[in-house]
Formats: sequence, C-alpha cells, structure tokens
Amino acid sequence: MKSPLLIVAGAKGAVGSTVAAAVADMKQTGKNTYPWLMTADWTDKIILQETAFAGWDVSEKKMSQAVALQGVLPQEHYEPSIAMLDTMDVRKPPAAATGYTEQIRILSQDIDDFIKMHPRHQPVFVNLLPACAVTKLEQYDALSDVYRELAPADFPDLAYVMAAMACGVPVVNFTSNAVECPLVVREAFQADVPLCGRDGKTGQTYLKVVIASALKARNLLVDGWYSLNILGNEDGRNLSDPQKASGKLANKTDFLDTILGYPVGKGYGQSTHKVAIEFYPPRGDSKESWDVVDMKGIFGMPMSIRMNMQLRDSILAAPMVIDLAVWMAALKASGRTGFVPELAFYFKKAPVPGSPVTFQEQIAALQNLAQDLK
Ligand SMILES: NC(=O)c1ccc[n+]([C@@H]2O[C@H](COP(=O)([O-])OP(=O)(O)OC[C@H]3O[C@@H](n4cnc5c(N)ncnc54)[C@H](O)[C@@H]3O)[C@@H](O)[C@H]2O)c1
Repeated sequence: MKSPLLIVAGAKGAVGSTVAAAVADMKQTGKNTYPWLMTADWTDKIILQETAFAGWDVSEKKMSQAVALQGVLPQEHYEPSIAMLDTMDVRKPPAAATGYTEQIRILSQDIDDFIKMHPRHQPVFVNLLPACAVTKLEQYDALSDVYRELAPADFPDLAYVMAAMACGVPVVNFTSNAVECPLVVREAFQADVPLCGRDGKTGQTYLKVVIASALKARNLLVDGWYSLNILGNEDGRNLSDPQKASGKLANKTDFLDTILGYPVGKGYGQSTHKVAIEFYPPRGDSKESWDVVDMKGIFGMPMSIRMNMQLRDSILAAPMVIDLAVWMAALKASGRTGFVPELAFYFKKAPVPGSPVTFQEQIAALQNLAQDLK
C-alpha cells in the first residue's frame, strides 16, 4: 500500500508545522513505527517513514522558521530535521480576490505537480485553515450558485476541497468550517474519493465524550455541564471573533445531548451545557480547560465532577492528522468513496446522520473499519 503524501492547506500554522516536524522526524528515525500513531498497529503494509508533506500557506517563512515561530516544539526536537523541513514544497495560495473557478484551477495544477513529484505516494488533502464565520452551504441547490454568491476570501476551504476532489484526492477536514454539505459529499462520490470531518476532537471534547458515555452507561442524569477553554495561540486569537467561534462552539456543544439522549437542562427550560472559549495569550499552544459537571443520582441527589486539563493543542492534533491521512490512503486503496462516518472518533462534529456517537460506538466503528482494511 502506498505511503501518504499529506497536502495541507494551512501548512505553516501551529498544527501544520507540527505535522511537518513529525513527518520529518518519522523519516529521521528510519523505523516503520511511530508510537504516537493510533494506526501504527494495523498499518504494517504502509511504509510510514516515507510519508511526505506539501501544501500551501500565506506565510512565506521557511518551514523550519514556521516551526520555531509557533513555539510548539523545543529546538532540539526539530533541529536534526531543518534541512528536510525546508525542502518541503509549500506554496503561496491563489490571490484571495480570484473567484472559486479560477482558484480551483490553480490549486488543481499545484496538486497535480505535488502528485507528479511523489508518484509512489497516495495524496491526501488535509484542511488546516483558520476557523471562519459559519457558511450554510445547505441552502444552495448547485455548486455553481455557491461559486457565484460566495467569495473564496470568506471561505477558502471550499476551493481547496473542490480542487482536491477534482484531482481524485481524499479529503480530511480537521477544521470547524462546515464544508461537508450534501452537495460536496455527492461530489466526493462522483470523484471516487473518501471524505471525513469535521473539527478534530483533540482534548477537552475527546474526554467529555468519554465521561458523558460513562455517565450515560450508569443512567446518571447530567443536569448541567460548564466548560471553559483558555488558549493563547493563533487559533485562540482567531476564535476570539464571535462569528468565527460560532461553528466551533456548536461543534463543542451539540454532541452531548446526542450522547445522553436528552437535552441537558430540560428542567430549566434552557440548555445548561455551556461552553466558553477565551483567548488568553500567556497560554500559547498549551491550552487549559476547566469543566464542572452537575449530575443527579438516585432520589435526585446532586453530585458533581470537576476536571482541569493542561494539554497541548498541536501536540495532540499532529498525530491525529497523520493517522487520518493513513486512514484515507488505506480507504482510497480499498475503493471507499463519500463521507466516512466510522471516523467519528477523530471529530467533534458528525456532519452526516447515523454516525456513531458514544465513545464505545466510536471505538467499535474504528476497530471494524481497521478489520475491513486488513
Ligand atoms: N489544535 C487543535 O487541537 C485543533 C483541534 C480542532 C481543530 N483545529 C483547527 O485546525 C485549524 C488549524 O489550527 P492551527 O492551530 O494550526 O491554526 P493556525 O492559525 O496556527 O494556522 C492556520 C494557518 O493557515 C494559514 N492560512 C490562512 N489562510 C490561508 C489560505 N487561504 N491558504 C493557505 N493557508 C492559509 C495561516 O497563515 C496559518 O499558518 C484551525 O481551524 C483550528 O480551529 C485545531
């Protein structure tokens, strides 16, 4: 099976540059294992150290400078890879003012070039662009209407995704941007590519799914759940714009009622699942989250859980991105097309109905998928 070529939009951001450093590190170690990957135990047919990286970013800095600037990794972890990082082909995106059709043409040409340079790899597109204001693609009947009425400057994700699919390249949407509408999913079927998303489930939401699934299994009633996130990276700065944060907040909120099977706060006439994101510069990429879960047991007796997590956004995200690229390479090789709900484990939001919701269901779906691919 072919090794993945990650083609990343937003390649020099906090997550993208950490993925680039990990890809270089995998090559340096020269071993076909990488302990941080979940796929490592079933991907013995894929030569992981041959994983390749290319993409686009508006930043013109060298990749090694981008890694340094993001401050996610101490120098000792990427210093041996500087030469390799700086040979990665990361291009400037098309001018923001060009329309969708022209952007898709230019990006498709870039993708064709990347594929020609890596003929023995399976290309996988990964969307790591910044969060943007919510765009409701569902309201359109045809992509031509979308191209006419929306501007790539407001929603560049669509141009990248359509270009990837036009080139027969599978798509991973790690962002909170709502690109997987029925029109785009239909296009994925027609282009014979698998597509997955939305919004990587890296830290707080991941553990919330685990705890909510455990409380549901015990029939403990969740009366309210308050979640606070403080983060100081560029993603956090971007999310301090309420319009750009609204998609992310919805993804961080919607899943809980679905897991539990009832609206949290129904006795109060309003949702008591509250999620807040605060941009707090001293934290950088080392995000912190606080959770208070109010719940009731037999005789309605109240109890509560408090959780404080001190995690690292991009350190958690980078191996998930590589894992997803490996899944997509294997799924493409197996002939899978369209949206892949079995990968819900990796995402906050399942944009298609019928996706597995509890932690147990998501793990089981992933294991079955791995079994099918073996
Ligand atoms: N880190 C996590 O744990 C996590 C979890 C879930 C989702 N996400 C999402 O992943 C995405 C990436 O996160 P990040 O922390 O790397 O963000 P970031 O802001 O550090 O990186 C985004 C990169 O995109 C580049 N960019 C902007 N517009 C572009 C364009 N039109 N074409 C090409 N490049 C462009 C920027 O220059 C920047 O380098 C965000 O949408 C974030 O919400 C991150």
